Amino acid sequence: MIDTLGPASGRRALIESFAPTLIAWQREHGRHDLPWQQSRDAYRVWLSEIMLQQTQVSTVIPYYTRFLERFPTIEALAGAPSDEVMSLWAGLGYYSRARNLHRCAQVVVEAYGGHFPRTVEALSSLPGIGRSTAAAIAAFSFGAREAILDGNVKRVLARVFGIDGFPGEKRVENAMWTLAQTLLPAHGDADIDAYTQGLMDLGATLCTRGRPDCARCAFTPHCVAYATGRQRELPVARPRKAVPVRHTLMLVMRRGKSIWLERRPPTGIWGGLWSLPEGSDTTALARVAELHGYHDSASAFEPLAPLSHTFTHFKLDIEPMLLDMVAAKTPSARDDAAGRWVALSELDEFGLPAPVKKLLAGLTGTLI
Ligand code: ADE
Repeated sequence: MIDTLGPASGRRALIESFAPTLIAWQREHGRHDLPWQQSRDAYRVWLSEIMLQQTQVSTVIPYYTRFLERFPTIEALAGAPSDEVMSLWAGLGYYSRARNLHRCAQVVVEAYGGHFPRTVEALSSLPGIGRSTAAAIAAFSFGAREAILDGNVKRVLARVFGIDGFPGEKRVENAMWTLAQTLLPAHGDADIDAYTQGLMDLGATLCTRGRPDCARCAFTPHCVAYATGRQRELPVARPRKAVPVRHTLMLVMRRGKSIWLERRPPTGIWGGLWSLPEGSDTTALARVAELHGYHDSASAFEPLAPLSHTFTHFKLDIEPMLLDMVAAKTPSARDDAAGRWVALSELDEFGLPAPVKKLLAGLTGTLI
């Protein structure tokens, strides 16, 4: 049917049909056999939700099973030595989750008599429980009509509703919380677990980050990202931080057809590669030249074309200085474990960082 009332009415219709569509999809295509779905017991729901923060279902299942075998009740977990909790968690990663899990169990036992509180507000005041996890526990354990908003849900909402902006930004996140609240099944519906699980299942199985399976998705006919071909662009990625810039001088000591190279320490950037001596200024380079018998070289440096190299976390600006060692008073012939004179024709046999290779390749033609 043609939408004669314009896009706003399309959006309203989508908002109204969202929960029923999702619930129907979850019932038919969602996951129903996950170990934690077999119980509404808040202890089990909480344990699974904490483990599932930042960790995939397939990784969590054996840990969840072992934890429950060893700590069948929240009292057993609260009373366990922390070493034991940590060692059962080993391999799941994000260990602050395990420390918070243990503390949370102790608080629930001591302050709530071993029974989790039922409201999102009280749940989210417990260690390790944020707003979304609190809502998931309240929905799955107590049937509370509460909205979740984890990474998977943000992806689904950003795509279906075409939400621009990085979801880690407060403004965007707040808008998503409001939308998530609006989309909940109507008051009085008893479907909050299928709905909540549906959001998780859709995000984890169809509306995935890398290759969304739009052909099988119940929302494809209404999805803004699908209609505009923006599945890869939504949700918007974290804006790249301006990379810090570091600056270094490199010394190209030339002796006939050879260049002085040094092996870099095994760790740090370019660990173990052969490179040129570096310094923060020409005074530092002059000290290096002095070791090679060239005194008072500071005025003899010939600046070469600068270049830069981008690493993952910073950019390196390189200012190369050529020094002709013919003028050295007592030209050094030192060759040692840390460095050596290398003929230009042999450069290929040395592992050189890309910008150093480029720099020396540019020099080859000019060297006599
Ligand atoms: N991710 C977070 N909570 C989950 C749950 N209850 N089931 C599956 N995946 C989840």
